[in-house]
Order: sequence, then structure tokens, then C-alpha cells
Amino acid sequence: MTIQWFPGHMTRAKRQIEEKLKLIDVVFELLDARIPQSSRNPMVDEITSTKPRLVLLNKADLADADQTAEWSRYFRSQGLATHAIDANAGSGVKELASKAKELLQEKIQKQIDKGMKPRPIRALIVGIPNVGKSTLINRLAGRNIAVTGDRPGVTKGQQWIRFGGELELLDTPGILWPKFDDPVAGFRLAATGAIKEDVLHLDEVACFVLKVLVENYGSALSERYGLEGLPSELPDMQAAIQVLESIGKRRGCIVSGGHVDYEKAATLLLRDLRSGKLGRMTLESPEETNK
Ligand code: G4P
Repeated sequence: MTIQWFPGHMTRAKRQIEEKLKLIDVVFELLDARIPQSSRNPMVDEITSTKPRLVLLNKADLADADQTAEWSRYFRSQGLATHAIDANAGSGVKELASKAKELLQEKIQKQIDKGMKPRPIRALIVGIPNVGKSTLINRLAGRNIAVTGDRPGVTKGQQWIRFGGELELLDTPGILWPKFDDPVAGFRLAATGAIKEDVLHLDEVACFVLKVLVENYGSALSERYGLEGLPSELPDMQAAIQVLESIGKRRGCIVSGGHVDYEKAATLLLRDLRSGKLGRMTLESPEETNK
């Protein structure tokens, strides 16, 4: 779902999260493991500063495992606990309770010392649209309960989902806005489907993707589309268009007159990338992160 985020929406979304934070012990910040930095809300540190936070690298099944390990190290170096998951298939999800417990160890110990029986840890999922919030909530609930309702300002009755005996999750996630001021982050978000194509030109997104893939996953790209003599990098847009043209030709994306249908070729490439048919790929590395 595409949301037009206006300043009023952002203020309301921030306020709603702040209200929810009063109810919980720990924040699960959901990121897309393929673009961990670009899928982060620019104000998340400030918005969630009152609670301990666990960074969840979701869609790890689609991401490059080595890069996910790099990103985990990076977040840990920033003082943030991190855990990779696949909310769709459920891998890594059952460890969430113990990960949350680790973060709250001191608080829990204090309760025990006072002779109190620790109550279940209460958690809130926050993240930008399409990062997998509803999927994770549904997975933890064991049924479809989360309404994707990715719209700032939509309020409804909130309920707790009990996960095992130790974790309770608020059934409505905190919805954050993505980065807007960084054009490269915009391309990454569009490449993974977090921003719909009508916001950015499809062929430009495809060319951006090709540049990243040629540099990092050239052999998977060559293999998938039967491309020969792929260079090790694409110096400019023209070079990327040539690769897109080759893919179009190989895949029969041709319009009358025998010309390549670039839009069709771009759609095919992005569909293959998003579904994992090109292999597990990460589109940004921690070294590229300087903020
Ligand atoms: P949101 O609430 O944060 O907006 O995200 P949502 O759960 O709706 O998930 C967005 C898409 O991402 C869904 O695909 C969902 O199946 C997929 N997804 C979520 N978690 C994972 C994961 O760990 N691995 C993989 N491979 N996919 C995941 P969709 O229904 O096809 O939507 P769309 O991609 O067509 O928008």
C-alpha cells in the first residue's frame, strides 16, 4: 500500500507510537534485511528512546546471509541488539521471547528479588510499510488477526496477543514513515517494493538494481538471464540500459518493430529480485552507511 506521508501524518504516527510505548516493555524494530538502513525510519532512535529495542532483520530468507551477519555486527556496534528472522516461514521467530528477556534481564531480576513473579514481557512492533509487521503479528498470533491498515491516523481497539507464556504483543503495530530525503534510499525502497513504482520510474529503478547486482551478484545475474560478457561494474545509466536490453531480448520482452519493451524487462527483473528467484541478495552494505 502506498501512503502519502504528509507532515501531519508523521506527527500523528509519532504521537500514536508514543502512546503505545506507555503500554509496553520492549520495542521490536522491524527492518528489511535486504536494505536495513534504507528501511529504517530516520527518527526511530528519538521516537523509541524511552524503551529498550531489538532490531529485527526480517525477510532474511531473501537477503544475502553474509551481509545479514555484517549488518548484525554493525547494529551491535551501535549498541543495538539484533536478530534475523523470516516472518513468512517463521524461522527465528520463536527466539523472540528469549531475546526480549535478555534485554530486560535487570528489570526482571529486580522483580524476582522483590519476590514478584515476572509478568509476560509486553512488546510493540514498529516499522515502515511493507517491512512485514502484519506478517510477524499474524505469525506470533498463529492466525490472521493483523489488519495491514498501514495508514497513519487509523486507530482501532488494541489487544494483546499472548505468545507462549512469556511474551505479549500489541496487535496493532507502530507505523513509521520511510526515508524521503535520500534518493538512493528511495531506489532501494522501490527495488524491494516498499515504495510503489508509480513514485519512481520503473526503468530507473531497474537500472539502479542492475548496477548493484552487476557489482555484487554478477554471476547470479548472468546465470538467470543467460547473459554473456557482463562487465564487473556499470559506469553509467547507458551501460545499465544495455544490460536491461539484453535481459529483454533473452526473455522475449519485445514490442512491434522488434524493439525491447524496457518496462516489461524492468518489471520482470524486479519481480525476480523481490521473489528471490535471482537468489538471496542484499542491496546495501554497512560500509555505505554514514548516518
Ligand atoms: P507490513 O504489515 O509491514 O506493511 O507488511 P506485511 O506484513 O503486509 O508484508 C509485506 C509483504 O512482505 C507481504 O507480501 C509478506 O508476505 C512479505 N513478507 C513479510 N515477511 C516476510 C519474510 O520474512 N520473508 C518474505 N520472503 N516475505 C515476507 P505480499 O503479501 O506478497 O505483499 P506485496 O509484497 O505484494 O506487497
